[in-house]
Amino acid sequence: MSDVSRSPKAGRSRRSAVCQLAGLIAGSPLLEWSAQAAQAPGGAQPAAPAAPSRPGVIRPPAYRDAIMKVVNLHEFEELARKNVSEQAYNYIAAGAADELTLKANRSAFGDYWVRRKVMVDVSRIDTTVELLGQKLEHPILLGPVGLRTLMNPDGERMTARAAAHTKSVMVGVQPAVVQELAKQNQAPMWWAATLGHSSEQDAAAWARRSEEQGASALCVTVDYPYTGARDRPSRDKWESEFARTRIYSTDGGSIQFQPGMLDPYSPDLTWTWIKWARSASKLPIVVKGVLTAEDARLCVEHGAQAVVVSNHGARTLDGTAGTLNVLAEVADAVNGKVPVLVDGGVRRGGDIVKAVALGARAILIGRPYLWGLGAFGQEGVQRVIELMHGELRTALALSGAGSLSALNRSFIRPAWKAYKPVLG
Ligand SMILES: Cc1cc2nc3c(=O)[nH]c(=O)nc-3n(C[C@H](O)[C@H](O)[C@H](O)COP(=O)(O)O)c2cc1C
Repeated sequence: MSDVSRSPKAGRSRRSAVCQLAGLIAGSPLLEWSAQAAQAPGGAQPAAPAAPSRPGVIRPPAYRDAIMKVVNLHEFEELARKNVSEQAYNYIAAGAADELTLKANRSAFGDYWVRRKVMVDVSRIDTTVELLGQKLEHPILLGPVGLRTLMNPDGERMTARAAAHTKSVMVGVQPAVVQELAKQNQAPMWWAATLGHSSEQDAAAWARRSEEQGASALCVTVDYPYTGARDRPSRDKWESEFARTRIYSTDGGSIQFQPGMLDPYSPDLTWTWIKWARSASKLPIVVKGVLTAEDARLCVEHGAQAVVVSNHGARTLDGTAGTLNVLAEVADAVNGKVPVLVDGGVRRGGDIVKAVALGARAILIGRPYLWGLGAFGQEGVQRVIELMHGELRTALALSGAGSLSALNRSFIRPAWKAYKPVLG
């Protein structure tokens, strides 16, 4: 026996520990179970009560050290920037004009706070979601972006592989890449994406082809009649860099933004496009780029099966609201008839909780996965999605929702209402 346990103080603490233990045993369900066993006829043992199973720790998959050092989605941007040309960085980072909308997309997430609930059993966390007939493990989709190759010459293939690996829906992918990956059983779920067509013939041919190639939906982006005026790429000389590295080239080997330039893309796109596509394909049609209740209602009236609240990552008209700020308006107009998705500035798992609580079924990301691609290739894209998915689990657990399906407006407090009692 040690000197310490022989002291009177040690004796007292041992006695109190024994008393505490007896108290615990008295209230223990185990004691109740052994009392029942003693009373059971023939000494038959009733089944022991199942011990409540505590959930284990869930960790996102591990990668090499350099990747694991990145602790959030924001940090990928600077890492990618170091690896790519200034032109490529500027092209992706840029928003239109003064980038007010670019900032608004992000700051809108500070306009809503979570009304956290407590004493809810959140031992099981469910990030699954049903979208257009598919059950997805998480609600993070990879948005359509024109130039994945700007971040890596093999960016299209790497993104597709990462999407397959993380079971994410990839929106807009070169069909040749999906076909190649399909042969290796590594094709992702994907939606075909377009900025629209001028004729029924072209729209129908594209819709039919996309269905044959294995797309699970047709996504038409409706907010790009003209290219937005972006200051950052307007300063850059494109041709030399991109022609030299052959990372990107258009017909003439160059793309040139000019201040004040009006550059048409799909200026004659109207609601008839949906009719054209529907006549050629049974795939659901997703309309991306809606910011008002009126347009949301028109989408549903014309037969769209999903609506994406989006301002094209703030790359078209500067001055439109942050997408989270108009999400509720669109969701209310759609009134549950079709799922509503949102993108623009979504960077955290907690952002997804706010978006879903306000009425979104799922979200898309654009720049974050491009930065992941520029920083670390395929693994970078995977890490971006897995980090966000991990943060989503934590946010669902700590908000008291536990699952995406449990989220609703009762989990949201607009910041202006939260401040009202304080500010009077
Ligand atoms: C470089 C770049 C290219 C894009 N190209 C397209 C496109 O071709 N079609 C489209 O619908 N959206 C395009 N987008 C918009 C994205 O699909 C998405 O709406 C937006 O990036 C989401 O905002 P975030 O970047 O803040 O996540 C592009 C975005 C970026 C950054």
